[in-house]
Amino acid sequence: MLVSVFRKAHFNAAHRLHNPKLSEEENKKLFGLCNNPSYHGHNYTLEVKVTGEIDPLTGYVIDTKILKDVIQKEIHDRFDHRNLNEDTVEFKELNPTAENIAVVIWDLLRPHIDSKLQLSLRLYETENNFVEFNGK
Ligand code: NI
Repeated sequence: MLVSVFRKAHFNAAHRLHNPKLSEEENKKLFGLCNNPSYHGHNYTLEVKVTGEIDPLTGYVIDTKILKDVIQKEIHDRFDHRNLNEDTVEFKELNPTAENIAVVIWDLLRPHIDSKLQLSLRLYETENNFVEFNGK
């Protein structure tokens, strides 16, 4: 009997979509306003989903306090109020699209969640644009 537990979190960050392997013209054409050299910001919303069996001892799939603390430390403290391109090692080389950010976040969370639990997440860049990653 599998049950999913969700935890939401928010962080604000700046980024610029840019591939240094492409010319300025190609970058402009591909990424439009998101290629603005002066960066732009998003209020990201993260939804983390942990799925597994209910532990008969606790009645929990995962203690949401633990989940909250892991997200705070690994994601919020790392990315909130940062320029993703300039201030984080994760996006020094990697284009900080919502897709890539979702995979990076999954990789950062995975080691902290019991391996018998499934981990999925959604990352909202805007209310209408969001991506989902269900793991590797
Ligand atoms: Ni953007």
